[in-house]
Amino acid sequence: MKMMEALDEIKQFLACETPDSWIELARQPESQPLLLIDHAHCEKKAASTAMTLMFRYVDRSDLLNKMSRLAREELIHFEQVLALMEERGVQYCHLSSARYAGGLREHVRTSEPGRLIDVLIVGAFIEARSCERFAKLAPYLDDELAKFYRSLLKSEGRHYQDYLGLAADYAGEPIDERVAHFREVERRLIEEPDDTEFRFHSGAPVIN
Ligand SMILES: [Fe+2]
Ligand SMILES: [Fe+2]
Repeated sequence: MKMMEALDEIKQFLACETPDSWIELARQPESQPLLLIDHAHCEKKAASTAMTLMFRYVDRSDLLNKMSRLAREELIHFEQVLALMEERGVQYCHLSSARYAGGLREHVRTSEPGRLIDVLIVGAFIEARSCERFAKLAPYLDDELAKFYRSLLKSEGRHYQDYLGLAADYAGEPIDERVAHFREVERRLIEEPDDTEFRFHSGAPVIN
């Protein structure tokens, strides 16, 4: 699938675009180091989530293959962000999490097979949102960072499809209702004012 088609599909999958107020904050020079540090954490967490699934569901070969590849790609992205940080003199450090991923995970069912299906759907939303955000933010960044973000679109777009495809395959029934539920939860986390600190997945900033 061509990149623009993939991006269109992702925008249709999501209930809303990233708010302009978030873009406005993210493009400020003082936000840039934070954005990179948090991005590094996101890539690492994405790899870790994929590996957790590989440990939990050892009997599903399609999942094992897709998650193994995904984890490797996320770790390569992680190394790429680290290199950019080094070049720019940005020091890696611990950060508090955005409310985003936790807010989505709160809605994951606790018993199987619902838990697996929901975790996969949440994965699809996180990948789709990252993709949409990279694309929307890229025009406001310096050339090097913009090029890097655009280069990530392709793999994050495929990750979204992998997660959604696995959810549909393993559910054994239509997943539309669960997808619609998470779509609304995700929309709220993105559009509603977020008074926690600025992060890659934070919601609309609260202007004081
Ligand atoms: Fe990634
Ligand atoms: Fe990804």
